Amino acid sequence: TISRVTAWEALDSRGRPTVGCVVSLANGAHGRALAPSGASTGSHEARELRDGDERYDGFGVRRAVANVEAVLRDAVMGLDARDTAAVDAALERMDADPLLGGVGANAVLAISLAAALAGADAARMPLWRLLGGNRPRLPMPMVNIISGGAHAGRALDVQDILAVPVGATTFTQALEWVSRVRAGTAEVLRERGHATALVADEGGLAAALPDNEAALAAVVDGIHRAGLAPGADVSLAVDIAANQLWDGEAYHLELEGERLDERAWLRRLLSWCDAYPVVSLEDVLAEDEWHGWAAATSLLGTDCQIVGDDLFATNAARLERGFQTSVANAVLVKPNQAGTFSRARRVLELAQRQGYATVVSARSGDTEDHWLSDLAVGLDAGQIKVGSTMRSERTTKWNRLLEIEASAGGAACLAPWPWADDHPL
Ligand code: PGA
Ligand code: ZN
Repeated sequence: TISRVTAWEALDSRGRPTVGCVVSLANGAHGRALAPSGASTGSHEARELRDGDERYDGFGVRRAVANVEAVLRDAVMGLDARDTAAVDAALERMDADPLLGGVGANAVLAISLAAALAGADAARMPLWRLLGGNRPRLPMPMVNIISGGAHAGRALDVQDILAVPVGATTFTQALEWVSRVRAGTAEVLRERGHATALVADEGGLAAALPDNEAALAAVVDGIHRAGLAPGADVSLAVDIAANQLWDGEAYHLELEGERLDERAWLRRLLSWCDAYPVVSLEDVLAEDEWHGWAAATSLLGTDCQIVGDDLFATNAARLERGFQTSVANAVLVKPNQAGTFSRARRVLELAQRQGYATVVSARSGDTEDHWLSDLAVGLDAGQIKVGSTMRSERTTKWNRLLEIEASAGGAACLAPWPWADDHPL
């Protein structure tokens, strides 16, 4: 049972404060977790509590830390940490706001995950094994190669161009391939006169390219340079993060100097999908354009995974609306958009029951924690997105997956790309 909870103000990978929490049990077991934090956040996500005072430019989290120790600790004291549903229900009850803005979703998530990890420690099992058993299915990685948008000073309008090693047969091979693609793309960019020494928030390359399409072309060239086959070995994914392009009426492409209405914008995306081996598109439209999203799904979704991130905000009610209106065919699962481990788990399981693909995701401001990898394996998400193959807050998640694959020996397998030819959309 939970006997002690401590919290403190830590720093995330952007150098901004975040909530750290340790949950200790009467039997000596404990769990420790830090909350991640996004930059291109949607308006339907659970709400972080920030101090808004002179410290850290207003980003301090002393009030959220105080809420862990003054409010949330009392709610979970004496509960069985292995009963994550009961712990999370007790936490959720402490805030009248379903988005947890009163006590702070950053406070709630840190204690929720620390409690889940303490439960695993008590069971003397890694969290992935406690959640999912002994035969791990490693998630297909979706890896950031070129960054733009809010993560790279708007070097590109679209937020990430990613590589998906759809042809790999083990996680170890998948990671080596995408790492080679990143190096190959960097080489191609250097030859075209771009600096590649600096990295964006998620470790991706940030180059001042002439237009958005040039980034897709550069990654395809990078795949060739890596000695791999675009489309067969490694395909492309794009996170548009379209909230950032939308002014309420049209989508702006600053690089192209264009302002496109929804129809023209969707035609543009279709032309990208025709010209490049794109297998996944995320947040193609703004988060509340439900009608347009249904049109986008029928237009683009026959050959492509259509992922809702800001659209669904890891929220069960929004995902249900997606099922009912045939919007998207995959959901990004970010535990801090939900606010508790149990809510994120529920969204993932709901999606799996409806045949939507699930992509567990880190945030652009992340930490040295690797619980996300355990969730991806333990809940059999099938896909994971944590940024690029460098920066330690990214590699800690990849390294955890490599460790799980190695520790399981021959019992591990890599989840296949869910939309392969024998699994039609
Ligand atoms: P964020 O970006 O963490 O800044 O929201 C990640 C994403 O959009 O997928
Ligand atoms: Zn996104």
